[in-house]
Order: sequence, then C-alpha cells, then structure tokens
Amino acid sequence: MSENAIGIFDSGLGGLTAVKQLTQVLPNENIIYFGDTARVPYGTRSRSTIVKYAEQDADFLLSQGVKMVIAACGTVSSVATGLADELPVPFTGVVIPTATAAVRATRNGRVGVIGTSATVQSGSYKKEILRQSCDITVYQQDCPLFVSLVENGFVSADDDIVKLVVERYLAPMKKQKIDTLILGCTHFPIIADAISQYLGENVTLIDSGRETALWAADILQKQGLLSRSNTPGSCHYYVSDTVDDFRRTAEIFLGRTVAREVSHIDLNT
Ligand code: DGL
Repeated sequence: MSENAIGIFDSGLGGLTAVKQLTQVLPNENIIYFGDTARVPYGTRSRSTIVKYAEQDADFLLSQGVKMVIAACGTVSSVATGLADELPVPFTGVVIPTATAAVRATRNGRVGVIGTSATVQSGSYKKEILRQSCDITVYQQDCPLFVSLVENGFVSADDDIVKLVVERYLAPMKKQKIDTLILGCTHFPIIADAISQYLGENVTLIDSGRETALWAADILQKQGLLSRSNTPGSCHYYVSDTVDDFRRTAEIFLGRTVAREVSHIDLNT
C-alpha cells in the first residue's frame, strides 16, 4: 500500500499549488491529480452539488488505487465535510491544516480569511480558528473574481487588473489591521505577490497548499504509509475538460511544463 500514489483533487487547477508543495515535501511519492476542469468553479454552487462532485472526484481517485485522498480545494473542504468518513483511506482537506498554521502565526490576534463564496458562507476557517483559540478575531471576505483571474492567467503583481481587484476585495481587511491572512482557496497562492504587495510585508500569508502538503506528509508518516522509494516520484494529471487548456495553464501553477502526463477522463461515463 505504501508504494501506491497519493490522490489529490480540486475543482480545476488550484490544487496544483498543493501538488507543487507536495512534490517538494515528499519528492519520492507518486501523485495522481484530478482537476474537474469541465465543472469548475465549485465555489458558486449549492451544497448538494459540491458534495456530489466531491464524492465523484474521490471515487475516481480511489479507482486508481490511491493510498490517501487530499481535497486540495477550499470549497470542497469547507462544504463536503462528511467526505472523510466515507473513504477507506486517510483523507485531509485544506481547512484544518491552514487554520492551525494561522493560529500559530498571528501575533496581534487579527486574522483574515479569503476564499470562494461557498467557503466564506460556510464559515469553515473561522469556526476552526475559534475552536482552537477564542482570543482571535476573524475577518472574512469572499473573492470569487480571484479564481477567474488565475484561471485566465492574470497573475502578475504589476498587472493593473490584478491590482484593482486585490484592492477592491482587501481594503476592508487592511483597515482592520490583520497581521495574518489565510489564502483559503488553492487558486490564491498564485497571486500571493500581488496580495502581499498591497497588504505589506508585515502581513503573513498562509498558503493552504503548503500547509496541507505538510499535514498530509505527517498523516502518511504516522500511518506508516510513506513510500520507501529512493527515486523521484511521478505525477499523472487527469482532467474532465480538454488536456490542451490544462497544459497551457498548469505551467503557471507548477512552474514547469506538463505534456504527456495529462489525460482526459469523463466522470459521467
Ligand atoms: N480551488 C477552489 C477552492 O479552493 C476554487 C475554485 C472553485 O470555485 O471551484 O475553493
């Protein structure tokens, strides 16, 4: 079992930020990624739809024989909270690892959370932070346009459109003098430079992809499921929409090109 791949899924490309971190934390693990690019975004959909999609995504990964499932999607992790109990393998979403890191990071007890509309409406990060520390004040803001910016390649901190949207969403949090900001959607680390430039270097950004990769490594280690291989692991990507679009945009997330490692899969067949 320990030599089986780790399964990671997201509504689209955002989960690749977690893949990138996981390959750094556990370079010898094989990874199978599923991006539901035909049905992205999840963040504007109803709870029942998000739960159904998440179950289908996880089932696909299980059909590939993965030893662990990671929901590298803030929306799924916030809304499909029963998923862990349904799976026969270890599971983590992004909410608990990321909230835990934010509680550790804040110095003034003022933490911001940004995510999709579904994530912010669920209050998932806020509830988890307050469960761990009732002394922290949490400010939330949904930023749905960030997902579209990233999926369409508008990611530069110097891009006027990016700057404008960042300022529009984050001005209230800047006024509240937060010192820690949770990037509660896996798409958002891609525009971390623009966010940091606007909020200033004294605000610590918590990257849900990074924290979740570290958390997953810890689970695998505790359960004796880490690979014993000494050679670099492979990564295969499955997407529900065209592979060409995925190849083009994946480079932004991974910082390298992907070519033959991408396949199309239709979850409805
Ligand atoms: N990756 C998703 C998340 O972390 C955002 C995109 C979506 O709305 O599906 O919430």
